[in-house]
Amino acid sequence: MKTIALVTQKGGTGKSSLAVSLAVAAQEKGLRVYVIDLDPQGTAKNWFERREAETPEVATIDASQLKAALTALANQGYDLILLDTAGVNTPATVSAMEHADMCLIPARPSIADIEATRPTTASLTKLGKQFAFVLNQCPPGRSIRTNDAYRVLQLGGVVATASLATRTDHIDALALGQGVTERDPQGKAAREIRGLLQWILNKMEGAADGNKKARVA
Ligand SMILES: Nc1ncnc2c1ncn2[C@@H]1O[C@H](COP(=O)(O)OP(=O)(O)OP(=O)(O)O)[C@@H](O)[C@H]1O
Ligand SMILES: [Mg+2]
Repeated sequence: MKTIALVTQKGGTGKSSLAVSLAVAAQEKGLRVYVIDLDPQGTAKNWFERREAETPEVATIDASQLKAALTALANQGYDLILLDTAGVNTPATVSAMEHADMCLIPARPSIADIEATRPTTASLTKLGKQFAFVLNQCPPGRSIRTNDAYRVLQLGGVVATASLATRTDHIDALALGQGVTERDPQGKAAREIRGLLQWILNKMEGAADGNKKARVA
């Protein structure tokens, strides 16, 4: 079982949107997926309440229960857990970072989002955690702004080569309790999320097993 946390102290960067759409895309690949919502705002939990399908399940728990919850999910045979966290630094965010195999830091291609990643990357470096920036809500198509943001973020760590554009599918999917791959399976947002998921899975395999190929589960 692998655990991915979405973390950054900036609100609105796309932590919850990525958590739910990555969860759905991973499930479509055949993985057993569970989402833990550690944000009192409950965006992922509310998404699940609007959702018709019963999986991937979303639960809200107190940070003090995280370790036990992850052990229980591993015993139940889950492959992938996504931890959604609040846009402010809370004990739950620290706990999510501690328990994650990989932390994703979504950032829009703006100086404010990039600056806001610094306390998070400092904490993750201290904890010795693998992390990657994900550029989200980029202008569609090639953009100097996205390229510049990519280069600046690269100075602070690994940047996912799969970035996500601003697409209405993300807004609609969140409202409908869907992933973007369900909202429009052939759409651009779906293609981008699948690309990001594959990038993350490859990265985690590499981290766990050096150059060996291994399943994520
Ligand atoms: N790629 C995208 N294209 C279009 N809209 C997006 C995209 N990603 C996120 N959004 C929208 O941006 C808003 C903020 O996204 P989201 O709630 O996922 O951010 P967050 O980081 O979880 O915020 P918070 O810190 O408040 O929890 C939402 O309205 C969401 O629908
Ligand atoms: Mg959120």
